[in-house]
Amino acid sequence: MHANHLGVLLSGLLVSATSASASSILFSGGTVIAFNRTSNSLEVIRNGSVLVTDDRITSVFANSSPPSSVSVPSDVEEVDITDKILTPGFIDTHRHGWQTAYKTLGSNTSLVDYFNRFGEFATAALYPLDSDEVYYSQLAGLYESLNAGVTTTLDHAHHTFSDSTSLAGLRASIDSGARVFWAYAFHNVTNYTLEQQFANYRSIASNASYSNTPTTLGVAYDGFGPNPNTTIITTLLDLIRESNASVLTTHSVAGPYGVTNSPEDFSSLSLFSQLPPTTPVVFSHASFLSPVGAQLLRTHNHTISITPESEMHYGHTHPTSHLIQDFASLGVDTHFTFSTDILTQARLWLQSVRRLLYTQVLDRWEVPVNNPMSANQAFLLATRNGGVSLRRDDLGVIAPGAKADLVIWDGTSPGMLGWWDPVAAVILHANVGDVEGVLVDGRWKKRDGRIVDKKYEEVKERFLEIARAVQERVIARAGEIGLPKEGERFQSGFEFGNTTTVDVVPGDGEDGYGGLFL
Ligand SMILES: *[C@@H]1O[C@H](CO)[C@@H](O)[C@H](O)[C@H]1NC(C)=O
Ligand SMILES: *[C@@H]1O[C@H](CO)[C@@H](O)[C@H](O)[C@H]1NC(C)=O
Ligand SMILES: *[C@@H]1O[C@H](CO)[C@@H](O)[C@H](O)[C@H]1NC(C)=O
Ligand SMILES: *[C@@H]1O[C@H](CO)[C@@H](O)[C@H](O)[C@H]1NC(C)=O
Ligand SMILES: *[C@@H]1O[C@H](CO)[C@@H](O)[C@H](O)[C@H]1NC(C)=O
Ligand SMILES: *[C@@H]1O[C@H](CO)[C@@H](O)[C@H](O)[C@H]1NC(C)=O
Ligand SMILES: *[C@@H]1O[C@H](CO)[C@@H](O)[C@H](O)[C@H]1NC(C)=O
Ligand SMILES: *[C@@H]1O[C@H](CO)[C@@H](O)[C@H](O)[C@H]1NC(C)=O
Ligand SMILES: *[C@@H]1O[C@H](CO)[C@@H](O)[C@H](O)[C@H]1NC(C)=O
Ligand SMILES: *[C@@H]1O[C@H](CO)[C@@H](O)[C@H](O)[C@H]1NC(C)=O
Ligand SMILES: [Zn+2]
Repeated sequence: MHANHLGVLLSGLLVSATSASASSILFSGGTVIAFNRTSNSLEVIRNGSVLVTDDRITSVFANSSPPSSVSVPSDVEEVDITDKILTPGFIDTHRHGWQTAYKTLGSNTSLVDYFNRFGEFATAALYPLDSDEVYYSQLAGLYESLNAGVTTTLDHAHHTFSDSTSLAGLRASIDSGARVFWAYAFHNVTNYTLEQQFANYRSIASNASYSNTPTTLGVAYDGFGPNPNTTIITTLLDLIRESNASVLTTHSVAGPYGVTNSPEDFSSLSLFSQLPPTTPVVFSHASFLSPVGAQLLRTHNHTISITPESEMHYGHTHPTSHLIQDFASLGVDTHFTFSTDILTQARLWLQSVRRLLYTQVLDRWEVPVNNPMSANQAFLLATRNGGVSLRRDDLGVIAPGAKADLVIWDGTSPGMLGWWDPVAAVILHANVGDVEGVLVDGRWKKRDGRIVDKKYEEVKERFLEIARAVQERVIARAGEIGLPKEGERFQSGFEFGNTTTVDVVPGDGEDGYGGLFL
């Protein structure tokens, strides 16, 4: 009796000891899009296996020849991925998660219209969100990303309207379980001074609440050019060093917009040499990047985040971005206005670069013979290049030692059926509905097509209540905000101009533009 009791106790101890020491998952029988670090290229393994131990990928092998060095623990969770495609999680290097509550309100905005109605300054001045609103909006936005197979997000977090909204967005990022590079935005907004923001950042940085989570602390700032305040920038450098910030990000939209924040601005402030080597800079959009700017990126190993849909939707465009794709990754930006996923961005970008480079040949009245950009390159931009942007060689790849951030695609959906090349299948034929499973740090976030977090249903309910309240506030005031008129000038000093608008209805009169269906 006594001995039995002891036996039960001992086996209980053993079980908990084993589960505390390691948890492992073995994916096998599917097609794995792995990364070969020697050749620096994708490697497709058919009938492949991936062993995950805790938060890391420990080995990748073909089932037909499991290396003798691989020892699979007896308590491994086996996941059959026959007919499925296993890829690394996609990486989004530019997003504003808190804006989820504005969903569909910005369907026809230009960039200027966006600034006036929905941007950080308009929000803080006209209809500031409270901390609950930021929390649920950020959390719902991150679930959207995870659902779409995006496991890492660089969040340019400009919901820093007060100490409490700042903390709320950070807490939501942590609670989502996604890998969030949460970059605290310092900005001159209504009722929250930079001094208050500096103090708030310091208190957040000294609070260990995000250690041992996939969320890390970064910095976002849009005042590096054209007229930088060096006092502020010196303080930001101190904050970055003190907190070992994981990233520094800035909106760079030059040309007539004049919001330069360019590599040249960084260079003239000697920032590249002053930043710690563990703090990469991500220049979002880099619209109108110059050749000199591109060379600075290559010299100092910093990157741009191309947000194809956003740059086309708003009109800041990306006239030179195709020339710096070796130092670039992809982002979504304001997901309340359009697609939330990196797959769509990769596909849009691939086809728009093709169009651009084909046109250069056609403009010479020649017939293009080759295709200028491959599906493979689009896949790398969506995955591996995001990891490089964040100076994290362990992100965006399936390789031993990499983080176990993984996506399982259903290769038998009606749209996917019949594929031979898995990279082309994902980049050109898949959609978010084909994302069957998602893991971050070896933990399931989506399984069998559903978000697994138990609190998700409750989050949805709370988010809906909040979104309705926020939208009513915005709609009540948005009517007051017209478009700039002839003779007015943008902050850069450049004049405004009207676009030609489209007419989709035959005949004179009605053109089909319509209003918003609110
Ligand atoms: C990785 O690439 C190198 C160089 O091309 C090649 O020799 C090696 O076999 C590849 N590794 C695997 C596992 O295929
Ligand atoms: C995959 O590998 C396993 C283990 O070696 C083998 O039993 C199975 O037949 C293979 N399947 C295919 C489709 O090759
Ligand atoms: C800013 O603070 C003042 C003083 O507390 C307050 O009256 C005003 O409503 C606040 N503005 C906004 C947009 O919250
Ligand atoms: C912040 O904005 C206000 C009004 O928008 C302006 O008066 C003030 O000079 C700005 N402060 C800084 C430090 O840019
Ligand atoms: C520290 O983090 C915890 C958990 O996120 C939070 O409740 C607390 O308010 C934070 N304190 C400060 C000073 O930021
Ligand atoms: C720079 O910013 C600091 C801190 O916000 C402010 O006190 C100072 O007036 C600013 N300097 C200029 C030249 O705008
Ligand atoms: C700073 O952060 C990097 C990862 O971003 C990490 O590798 C490094 O050890 C950290 N350094 C310190 C001093 O904490
Ligand atoms: C840039 O940083 C990435 C990520 O850490 C690294 O893989 C790459 O080798 C670096 N490139 C150069 C040119 O230094
Ligand atoms: C754009 O066109 C509208 C309608 O014709 C006009 O009212 C407005 O002044 C124009 N804006 C500019 C900047 O030219
Ligand atoms: C978008 O549509 C709304 C409603 O019709 C209108 O108020 C707004 O001016 C439009 N924005 C642009 C940039 O055309
Ligand atoms: Zn942005």
